[in-house]
Amino acid sequence: MRVEDIKKIGIIGAGVMGTQIGELFAQKGFRVLMVDVNQDVLERSQKETEGKIFVAPSRISWHLDLREAIKDADLVVETITENLDLKIEVFAQLDKYSAKHTLLASNSSAFPITWLLNKVSEERKPKCANMHFLNPVEISQIIEITKGEYTSDETVNLLAGITRKLGKKPVILKKDTPGFIVNRMIGALQRECYAMLEEDVASVEEIDEAIRLGLWLPMGIFQLSDMIGLDVVYSSMKWMYDVFGLEYLKPPDFLKEMVERGELGMKTKKGFYTY
Ligand SMILES: NC(=O)c1ccc[n+]([C@@H]2O[C@H](COP(=O)([O-])OP(=O)(O)OC[C@H]3O[C@@H](n4cnc5c(N)ncnc54)[C@H](O)[C@@H]3O)[C@@H](O)[C@H]2O)c1
Repeated sequence: MRVEDIKKIGIIGAGVMGTQIGELFAQKGFRVLMVDVNQDVLERSQKETEGKIFVAPSRISWHLDLREAIKDADLVVETITENLDLKIEVFAQLDKYSAKHTLLASNSSAFPITWLLNKVSEERKPKCANMHFLNPVEISQIIEITKGEYTSDETVNLLAGITRKLGKKPVILKKDTPGFIVNRMIGALQRECYAMLEEDVASVEEIDEAIRLGLWLPMGIFQLSDMIGLDVVYSSMKWMYDVFGLEYLKPPDFLKEMVERGELGMKTKKGFYTY
């Protein structure tokens, strides 16, 4: 397969990331099929996209039926809820219902692609990789592409070619490390900022200002956490802690409590900040 042969893109999960990823593909001329298990989410995604004139919503369709939607996709990007068991099941379905040539990519924030392939056929495994889009998708400059244990060089090259067509720079990881490069670094910054908040060193606003103006980063870590979604942040931190078992990776109790109260950041209009 050549990069030019990749025209139809299935996106599984029409939430925060799926919607933005679908819009980017459509904007660059690809045909996009958005799939979600939740009709309300599909409607919200469609409404959001149709409000953006630069996207060409006519290239996107929205579906509840995964099987029908992906049957002749050339590339499928899985971007469902960050849950390992769910993702393993979805990859099994994608393997079963997609065409022989279809590439499968996961947008997981932390799971090595190799872990998602327990129920995927041997023929498909070389066609699977992690393709980590950063939020906000429109302005981010890179996509991290991780080569798993079975990923072929051809797949990595095709995904790197697609990344360039999307106007982004591919960053290739040769090792399937949990959290990849960017999230390992964000994790380190988050742990320190959350610890400073717990130690009452400074307020959320002051710590964010120090990050922005002192470290020259475009946004503070609390702002970024609210944008990612505190449920996603908590589950990524918890998962890293469970995998490595190192005490310093333990997510703070206050973060768990915020998630339990439904304070998930921008998507619920309340997190570290109020929106
Ligand atoms: N939020 C971020 O900033 C960010 C950045 C990079 C990567 N990610 C990763 O992207 C993925 C999605 O994150 P999100 O923030 O968009 O989450 P989200 O909760 O906004 O969306 C996830 C969607 O998946 C749907 N879903 C669940 N099971 C499904 C299934 N079996 N089939 C189809 N749809 C299903 C849900 O209904 C939901 O709409 C996660 O793996 C996350 O770690 C998130």
